Amino acid sequence: MTAPRKIIIDTDPGQDDAVAILLALASPDEIEVIGITAVAGNVPLSLTQKNARIICELAGKTHIPVYAGCERPLAHTLVTAEHVHGKSGLDGPNLPDPQMQLTEGHAVDYIIDTLRAHPANSVTLCPLGPLTNIATAFQKAPDIIGRVQEIILMGGAYFEVGNITPAAEFNIYVDPEAADIVFKSGAHIVVMPLDVTHKVLVTKARNDAFRNIGSPVGEAVAKMTEFFERYDREKYGSEGAPLHDPCVTAYLIRPELFKGRHVNVEIETGSSLTRGMTVADWWDVTDRAPNALFIGSVDANGFFSLLTQRLAQL
Ligand code: BDR
Ligand code: CA
Repeated sequence: MTAPRKIIIDTDPGQDDAVAILLALASPDEIEVIGITAVAGNVPLSLTQKNARIICELAGKTHIPVYAGCERPLAHTLVTAEHVHGKSGLDGPNLPDPQMQLTEGHAVDYIIDTLRAHPANSVTLCPLGPLTNIATAFQKAPDIIGRVQEIILMGGAYFEVGNITPAAEFNIYVDPEAADIVFKSGAHIVVMPLDVTHKVLVTKARNDAFRNIGSPVGEAVAKMTEFFERYDREKYGSEGAPLHDPCVTAYLIRPELFKGRHVNVEIETGSSLTRGMTVADWWDVTDRAPNALFIGSVDANGFFSLLTQRLAQL
């Protein structure tokens, strides 16, 4: 048996971030979560760092260090998404305030120190929010870039176009300058764009399956996904909430569920019309070298049976 992959989850919880974290914490044979770093995104940092701790407690994994990171994007003011996730970021279930403390130190320093302390290519970064913490770490300590095993991130869109502007997906839109640094870094990148995340929808039957687990985790996930479903239902007329961020952690466990292409991805940082757009050269019409595996399809039933079965372990 191969050793579990060591990962740092960089996150802005967010109900879908919460499910992604729970899936990772429920899968110790494949994934070792060595730390969680919070960033401002769906809601301000004061809430994302608290929400990350709430989720660790819900999972009964209070030993995981949780660090607070960057409060605002590199170049612009923070845009948040309470209209999707509610005021707390985790609206839906009634979860208690966390008892576990934040770990001292800045998330960016934790990322740098951890990558330097571990053998090269043994730590994977899993960003589920704006890329501010990761880009800041890369700027501050460029030596760590070559030490990253892989970056598996949720962000961007191509054929599916934008969800926060007509052209841009939320995570990239919030901090396009950070995304630009990460996509140009040369690190191995796997991208879960809206093109794939809009194919994993929590239908009524899938929501019932979460609730039928019959545990506090199953109940909380059912309530969280019910809450943010209402937004996508109104917007897209879809059958349920898209589980964006859990695509990242599901990929670590069962990569064969996903299919994509190695393409060049550039980030628009200039135009006010298309700021934050992920320009993916899907048809290979430029001579720009591929820099990311851009995922486009998923076995949705396989994804949900994996997720439900793993959540039942917590
Ligand atoms: C992404 O933005 C956030 O609202 C979600 O948590 C996800 O990471 C989807 O665009
Ligand atoms: Ca997120």
